[in-house]
Amino acid sequence: MQEKSKFGSLCVHELKDKRTTKPHQLPIYATSSFEFENINQGIDIFSGKAEGHVYGRYGNPTIEVVAEKIARLEAFDLDVEAHCILTSSGMSAISTLAMATLKNGDKILTQGNLYGGTTELFVKTLQPFGVETIMTDLKDLNQVESLIKNDPSIRMVYFETPANPSLACVDIEALADIAKRHNRLSAIDNTFCTPYLQQPFRFGVDFIIHSTTKYLNGHGNSIAGAIIGKDISFMKEKIWQVLKLVGTNCNPWDAWLINNGIKTLELRMDRHCSNAMAIANFLESKDQVLKVNYNGLFSHEDHELAKKQMKDFGGMLSFELKGGIETGINFMNKIRFCTLAPTLGDVDTLILHPASMSHLNIPKEVRERNGITDGLIRLSVGVENVEDIIGDLEQAMG
Ligand SMILES: Cc1ncc(COP(=O)(O)O)c(C=O)c1O
Repeated sequence: MQEKSKFGSLCVHELKDKRTTKPHQLPIYATSSFEFENINQGIDIFSGKAEGHVYGRYGNPTIEVVAEKIARLEAFDLDVEAHCILTSSGMSAISTLAMATLKNGDKILTQGNLYGGTTELFVKTLQPFGVETIMTDLKDLNQVESLIKNDPSIRMVYFETPANPSLACVDIEALADIAKRHNRLSAIDNTFCTPYLQQPFRFGVDFIIHSTTKYLNGHGNSIAGAIIGKDISFMKEKIWQVLKLVGTNCNPWDAWLINNGIKTLELRMDRHCSNAMAIANFLESKDQVLKVNYNGLFSHEDHELAKKQMKDFGGMLSFELKGGIETGINFMNKIRFCTLAPTLGDVDTLILHPASMSHLNIPKEVRERNGITDGLIRLSVGVENVEDIIGDLEQAMG
């Protein structure tokens, strides 16, 4: 900036950065590009001789600090090095991973009860590009191994555990082992657990996906996602290249919101878990309830597996009210304290009646095959005082 420029130019140009001491909290670098000190620095950065930021779609210091935090949490206390890339949503984390690892003719082996958006991405969006999806019962490990052995085009085993709405678990270690023995990739969506409750790298998985929109942010004010991998050069070259060319990058504001959320991750997850356990016990004691799906209950069919791979049982549960669709709707109409919202992992308790909300347009027999019965209620248990949540559920059942 020349000392004596015109008024309009003074308005336009940035003045010298006034930073003297280091900010205590992570700054938001709200800039779409980065300037070079001189032409030589520009040449060195563009040619890869020197490190440096160039353009916001390629990288941004705010985003990279948060990505490193998530990579360290997923690798915490493990003998692995991990690299994380933040994306614009959980869905863009999954699609970026798919574009970087799969090609025309490859197949994904997965389960039928993935998050609905992921199933649609695989079936509706990837299929026309020649990537096929095979859905099977991933609990049947013999079947998984035989499918992989007999079909060399299966490139990736992709799974979620625990999964909606039954909180069914699959064996991470066994699936990662089968994939590895047959030289295939394994990837897990760890959104429900966060690295505090479950560290899939401990069990040999290649890639971890997060919708950070949920528990990592935790406050319902950001949409973003993450891909974490142990093959650092693959992450820094192939995944990053797809991210930058398809433009699935996160933005600094959302990264900053995730950073704020992560500060209280341990505190929040402990409270989510203890509240959910108390609510599951309460629901199991009620005559109006046919079944409670919570991994922490001895009655859950995957209780032992969940105990093996999770530190605690999480904040998600579902339960089935006796009676049909009317009972479900009446119950939801009486809810006063919990929030009727179709997301999960926020600090407040979120309640959903899938048959009349998220799955309204899905034929009854199809949704029931996936455990979504007329009386099923899904609860993302928050961190409020548990007596208030239980009180609301109790009055709505009365
Ligand atoms: C388990 C799981 N994975 C991925 C996603 C997609 O994440 P996003 O909405 O951040 O794109 C969701 C969204 O609900 C989810 O529940």
